Amino acid sequence: MTDSQNSLEQAGTAGLLQAVSRYLGRTVASEWRGAAEAAPRHRFLPDRIWLSGEDDELTPCDRRHDPDRWFAAAYEDVPVVTQINDGNEPEDLADALPSSSASAPSIVFLMLELLDVEPGMRVLEIGAGTGFSAALLSHRLGDINVTTIDIDPAVAELARSNLKANGYAPTVACGDGSLGWREEAPYDRVVATCSVERVPYAWVEQSRRGGIVLAPWQNPWISGGLLRLTVGEDGTATGRYTPDSSFMLMRTQRSGLRLFRDVVMEEHVPTESTTTLDPWAVADSAIETQFALGHRLGDLWYAWHHDPDVDGVAIRLWVATSDGTSWAAVDWDGSDGTQRYTVWQHGPRRPWDEVEAAHRWWLANDRPGPTRLGLTVTPDGQWAWLDDPANSWRLP
Ligand SMILES: C[S@@+](CC[C@H](N)C(=O)[O-])C[C@H]1O[C@@H](n2cnc3c(N)ncnc32)[C@H](O)[C@@H]1O
Repeated sequence: MTDSQNSLEQAGTAGLLQAVSRYLGRTVASEWRGAAEAAPRHRFLPDRIWLSGEDDELTPCDRRHDPDRWFAAAYEDVPVVTQINDGNEPEDLADALPSSSASAPSIVFLMLELLDVEPGMRVLEIGAGTGFSAALLSHRLGDINVTTIDIDPAVAELARSNLKANGYAPTVACGDGSLGWREEAPYDRVVATCSVERVPYAWVEQSRRGGIVLAPWQNPWISGGLLRLTVGEDGTATGRYTPDSSFMLMRTQRSGLRLFRDVVMEEHVPTESTTTLDPWAVADSAIETQFALGHRLGDLWYAWHHDPDVDGVAIRLWVATSDGTSWAAVDWDGSDGTQRYTVWQHGPRRPWDEVEAAHRWWLANDRPGPTRLGLTVTPDGQWAWLDDPANSWRLP
């Protein structure tokens, strides 16, 4: 490597660490600074990456055609998409969906700090991606103590070759990380870099007692937060969130239903009622409100429909169950000062009634924000709770 390349990557890493420190509100811990300096981020990016343009559409950036933009992207505190649509690039870029990425450095280091590792600990990472996080962990803990797994064979191969090229050799497995990786268990730490709606019990089972499972958690209503569970003596794991994170959902937990056209059929005859609950107060509110509501609403999801081409309706909020059997539509007529909205509901469940009940619960419990919520994972499923694990309800 030439001296100028060397100084470019040193300057890039220094700038990145500064940005991460600003985000964390404190200097990145020296152990992780050393790891970052030994693993310059651009060395983990493939030649073709995808960057968000204006209007958030992903556009390809090729290292050969635009080396400066490619290099600069590596050292910005943003996620860099490294694969779209599971490797099957669509003809129309409007259909591009990220399926693998190098996570934003601020989140990478936040997660490493939340993991609270010490020398000698063994870690399983779900979502090898570029191999960047695994390199940082290997630097700190030694190759022998780090296992990383990715479901996508091409991605796992990218991680493996990136790690090797940078002098690291943790175990890189290819498979469904929701099953954990029994071969190297037990682990002191399990960390997922794709989000989950249900924490797989295998991660708890393959952790030592007192170990930590750290995973971005979301559900159809909210993008959620970083859930940090401690594994107890009884084999359950419980913990709270660092709110507001956004990760790609684990492939094996994806669900196709997120469009009202998939659930609303012509033959449906919905019932009509009215509501005084402002739909924006529950489906477009600050995370302080929406986080708790999302935990109450379990499998409900929503979609906004502007200008739905219905007489007297300016904006419609759709709410539906994840199994697609029940739906609700809440209509705003477009007039200022509206205090009453028309509600249509169909199916065995009443999704809007469930939203209203969740909102009443939220008010009755002094409007809990994200830090009052927690989650417990057992072999039988997951339970959300408010303030105390004893005050819990089952989640799908
Ligand atoms: C945000 S990327 C990981 C970033 C990575 N840690 C890094 O440092 O570059 C998420 C990864 O999770 C992987 N993934 C999704 N579902 C998975 C599953 N069921 N098992 C294992 N990996 C999965 C994706 O293929 C993707 O590469």
